Amino acid sequence: MEEIKITKARAIDIKKIIEIEELSYKDPWPREVFMIDYVFNRSAQYFVARVDNKICAFTGLWIEMDKFHIVNIAVHPDYRKRGIATYFMNFIIDYAKEKRAKEIHLEVRKSNTIAQNLYKKLGFEILEELKKYYQDREDGYRMTKIIETKKRRENDNIGNRDFLR
Ligand SMILES: CC(C)(COP(=O)(O)OP(=O)(O)OC[C@H]1O[C@@H](n2cnc3c(N)ncnc32)[C@H](O)[C@@H]1OP(=O)(O)O)[C@@H](O)C(=O)NCCC(=O)NCCS
Repeated sequence: MEEIKITKARAIDIKKIIEIEELSYKDPWPREVFMIDYVFNRSAQYFVARVDNKICAFTGLWIEMDKFHIVNIAVHPDYRKRGIATYFMNFIIDYAKEKRAKEIHLEVRKSNTIAQNLYKKLGFEILEELKKYYQDREDGYRMTKIIETKKRRENDNIGNRDFLR
């Protein structure tokens, strides 16, 4: 597989992020929203993925306490179906584990089966249906991945033993 390099997005990368956003969605975030989120939202973190030194994907996360929210992930159309989103999502999952997050969640349009396939493959489950969630009134799903750490599993087992006694 080709080498994919993921780094925190710098202000200079925002232009490319917006370009990928506009190529990826019929209702892209307005440019100013990206700028405001990147500059002022203290819980927001943006990352970019590069192949051959070119930015080909980005993700935007909102991190609040022990919850990771994937607000956005998009791959440039020329780079899709090459495993880049899978690699990026695994990076986010590892990062969430490193930060001791308990869960990662995201929203996805009901019609976006491509993204749903990606998330399901990585252990995300539909826990909630979001009626008329999007501006055009399309329904969505909230998908969640619970992060299992070794310590948490051990604690859970202790809890179960107590319950059985
Ligand atoms: C969704 C998206 C990020 C996937 O990126 P990608 O780099 O092409 O994804 P990958 O190559 O890693 O593929 C991952 C999985 O997604 C699914 N997938 C990808 N392309 C697909 C397609 N054309 N049809 C069906 N499933 C597809 C498959 O399950 C695939 O796993 P597999 O290769 O083992 O079958 C990309 O299509 C995109 O940017 N779409 C527009 C923005 C968007 O919808 N973002 C998500 C918002 S919730």
